[in-house]
Amino acid sequence: MKDKYKDLFSPYTFPNGVTLKNRIVIAPMTHWSSNPDGSVSEVELKYYARRSSGVSAVITACAYVLPNGKAFHGQFAADRDEMIPGLRKVVKTIQEQGAKAILQIHHGGRLCPPELVPNGEIVSASAVPAEKPGMKTPRALTENEIKELVEAFGEATRRAIEAGFDGVEIHGANGYLIHQFFSPHSNRRTDRYGGTLEKRMTLPLEIIDQVKSVVAKYAKSPFIVGYRFSPEEPETPGITMADTIAFVDVLAGKGLDYLHVSLHDFRSTPRVGVKDLTKTRIEYLLETINGRVPLIGVGSIITADDAKEALDTGISLVAIGREMIVDPDWMQKIEEGRENEIATCIYTDQQEELVIPDGLWDQILNRPGWFPVKER
Ligand SMILES: Cc1cc2nc3c(=O)[nH]c(=O)nc-3n(C[C@H](O)[C@H](O)[C@H](O)COP(=O)(O)O)c2cc1C
Repeated sequence: MKDKYKDLFSPYTFPNGVTLKNRIVIAPMTHWSSNPDGSVSEVELKYYARRSSGVSAVITACAYVLPNGKAFHGQFAADRDEMIPGLRKVVKTIQEQGAKAILQIHHGGRLCPPELVPNGEIVSASAVPAEKPGMKTPRALTENEIKELVEAFGEATRRAIEAGFDGVEIHGANGYLIHQFFSPHSNRRTDRYGGTLEKRMTLPLEIIDQVKSVVAKYAKSPFIVGYRFSPEEPETPGITMADTIAFVDVLAGKGLDYLHVSLHDFRSTPRVGVKDLTKTRIEYLLETINGRVPLIGVGSIITADDAKEALDTGISLVAIGREMIVDPDWMQKIEEGRENEIATCIYTDQQEELVIPDGLWDQILNRPGWFPVKER
């Protein structure tokens, strides 16, 4: 390994005492390949096995916590105890490769396709559809249903503990239900869950409290709890960087093991809401957090130099998504001083070689601009 990359390989200990062997984790990525009933499939195990050695932790694809939260065909489930044996296989597959396994827990809210949820009924904070063509208007959850939702995140956490996961990541990002409660676009409520910036934080904070209380009750050894968020959204009204700074200030005091900002590019700058639009979002977040909780950064980290540049900003861990699909040996190549051999595109004949499940492969080929795909 070149000396300049040695920091990427330094261990990291979370506030709860769990140590990761290095600073690179796999970002959560849906793979559209679990069984239709939400149980874990053999192909997804092979996909995880191929890319879990080298990195220090794998944050899994998001798993739905309630049947009406399923947002993807082939999404896996953490909504009932029958799923635990399959979840256990995911844990074993990842841990056998020497990485920690973190289950991302999720509810899709108004972004769920009607055909995937009971009676086609989509739910959200308020009856406001997402601003995309063809999106259905969701039904606003009642206060009782919100209570059940909070409990469902706790139950999914209990299942993760029983399955042997090292932690959970609460998916509060990318426009899904928790994000919908924080967003002034999708949350127009006037009860204790909406109306002001502080009230829009209520649901995410209740979920964090519930998850932490389940961990305190069931986990026999230190268990990681992380929270993922998106710093801004393009809609008006929408989450601004100023909203996120206020939120992160509160999150940093919640005793979480990490915060994980969801970004397409880790160097990106805020759209609106702060004075200096040239400072990066990561810089704003680190300044707000001020050392109170570890931050994971992500987004378009392709080369070893990108990863070093990201870590040098002061974040604790670097998450890598698409690049780990493009080159499952990314970490080993840097470790062996072969970083110039890292692949930066996928050839259309590489599905089998890269162990990519059919559902994910379809997405890679059919969503232009998402992955760097080339024909030989
Ligand atoms: C195929 C794919 C699936 C994804 N699924 C999830 C997901 O389940 N949960 C999540 O929080 N983010 C998801 N993301 C976002 C990634 O975690 C990551 O933030 C994003 O891809 C940017 O990082 P990258 O440039 O390293 O890919 C997904 C991204 C991709 C490419």
